[in-house]
Amino acid sequence: MTDQTKPKLRSRAWFDNPENIDMTALYLERYLNFGISLEELRSGKPIIGIAQSGSDLSPCNRHHLVLAERVREGIREAGGIPMEFPVHPIQETGKRPGAALDRNLAYLGLVELLYGYPLDGVVLTIGCDKTTPAALMAAATVNIPAIALSVGPMLNGWHKGERTGSGTIVWKAREMLAAGKIDDEGFIKLVSSSAPSTGYCNTMGTATTMNSLTEALGMSLPGSAAIPAPYRDRQECAWRTGKRIVDMVHEDLKPSDILTLDAFHNAIRVNSAIGGSTNAPIHLAALARHIGVELPLTDWEEKGHKIPLLVNLQPAGEYLGEDYYHAGGVPAVVAQLMGQGLIAEDAITANGKSIGDNCRDATIEDDKVIKTFDTPLKKEAGFIVMTGNLFDQAIMKTSVISDQFRERYLSNPDDPNAFEGNAVVFDGPEDYHKRIDDPALGITTDTLLFMRGAGPIGYPGAAEVVNMRPPSYLITEGVGALPCIGDGRQSGTSGSPSILNASPEAAAMGGLALIQTGDRVRMDLAKGRVDVLIPDEEMAARKADLEARGGYPYPASQTPWQEIQRGIVGQMNTGMILEGTEKFQRIHQT
Ligand code: FES
Ligand code: MG
Repeated sequence: MTDQTKPKLRSRAWFDNPENIDMTALYLERYLNFGISLEELRSGKPIIGIAQSGSDLSPCNRHHLVLAERVREGIREAGGIPMEFPVHPIQETGKRPGAALDRNLAYLGLVELLYGYPLDGVVLTIGCDKTTPAALMAAATVNIPAIALSVGPMLNGWHKGERTGSGTIVWKAREMLAAGKIDDEGFIKLVSSSAPSTGYCNTMGTATTMNSLTEALGMSLPGSAAIPAPYRDRQECAWRTGKRIVDMVHEDLKPSDILTLDAFHNAIRVNSAIGGSTNAPIHLAALARHIGVELPLTDWEEKGHKIPLLVNLQPAGEYLGEDYYHAGGVPAVVAQLMGQGLIAEDAITANGKSIGDNCRDATIEDDKVIKTFDTPLKKEAGFIVMTGNLFDQAIMKTSVISDQFRERYLSNPDDPNAFEGNAVVFDGPEDYHKRIDDPALGITTDTLLFMRGAGPIGYPGAAEVVNMRPPSYLITEGVGALPCIGDGRQSGTSGSPSILNASPEAAAMGGLALIQTGDRVRMDLAKGRVDVLIPDEEMAARKADLEARGGYPYPASQTPWQEIQRGIVGQMNTGMILEGTEKFQRIHQT
């Protein structure tokens, strides 16, 4: 590319602006302070941000502090100037009341940084669950050239010769503790065995999901998502990512060129094939709204439900992150889908090539871990979108329905997809934890567990609590799961067959606000409905009564941000974004 055809760099407005020499001097003199020469700053080299999400507070992403050195070297080598800056940390396992509250906060912060500073392009360092959507959403809004760098999963966890997966092992350890098979110390030991190194959750939780989908969307280098954090390939990937972003700036390859409807549909299909997290529809809906792509929740069922499960990772399967990488990672999965015509092959990706060109020749290197399309782990492994008289939309991950669950709840020969039972209702996670083992609730295998007050408003950011375990007395009888329905989310590392993300939530006066313990409920997976079997007039009377008492009660905000977000946040089926922020689109246009 000649100098004449290169797009003008936006950083020139700061450092090379003859019309405002005063400000130019001020900008220049202060940025010289950290060792960049005047010559360099005036040379017209692209200035590349490294949006640093790692810190001591965010151990999942902390390895980015190391990787950033290699990113810098790559940027330098390609003729750019790196400028690293912190983004608001979001540690899934550390933040109270929940990390999801901070996704929109980190988004807002990063938008301001990308817009307000002299950056021509940015490397988004991603990893732990919400760090990925927050960064992508901000890059979409500002729309400067951006490439994501995953920190990579932890190494496999091991305990007594068996793989222990982060997050997933907690559910098993809880069952073992409740059944008296291990004590408290054994519990902690078993759980920590799953986290043996730097990196994010090694299971197919929300982190592996979102990092894989980032690659499927085209926002990171092909083959990059699955590389474990401590591997040397990860360092090399950091260097390549740094090199590549400089070229992306020269090519003016922006998020709006990559994040097309085709790219989102590719990601939805990949999500089914990998057994991805139920948090993905929320985050992709948010990203789509910020880039201005129409992506209704029903696309998840339409495009994704029939796709089989190919990746044998916990919680739906057996293996972990290292195995996923050695088996071929995302490109091997994409190639399988391409073979069936299920990938929009022309979608352009961060390396400047199409996803088809990147993945066409990718092969499965270990068919225990990644299955071929013709020999899947499960057929029709995508989500179904549910509706009914308790909510407008909710989602269910059918790939984790166990044989035991299917036999118990979905095996009535006259009506094989439906189940009727009585509701037991919990108001928020604290109420559930306090009462789940109380025999007075009379929970049996004919019970449907309901969780409400756990949505974006009721429990700021929405709690990951819908996947409720049965009471201990049922677990000891061998009952591993009951049907769970709620307006909260579910951890991507849970294998529970729950109906979740119900929108609108109880706190927004959705139907879940009106259900009572003892109500008869019908769940019909074939029709995609959950209905409480009470007359409409009774529902209307309950609603009028609740409204007269001031609506569904939820706890007061503990921080200013909780209060601000509660005032403007939308529901999960439309991405749980700060309503109104989607108006600010593609701020940077060249
Ligand atoms: Fe950070 Fe799972 S807790 S990725
Ligand atoms: Mg999670």
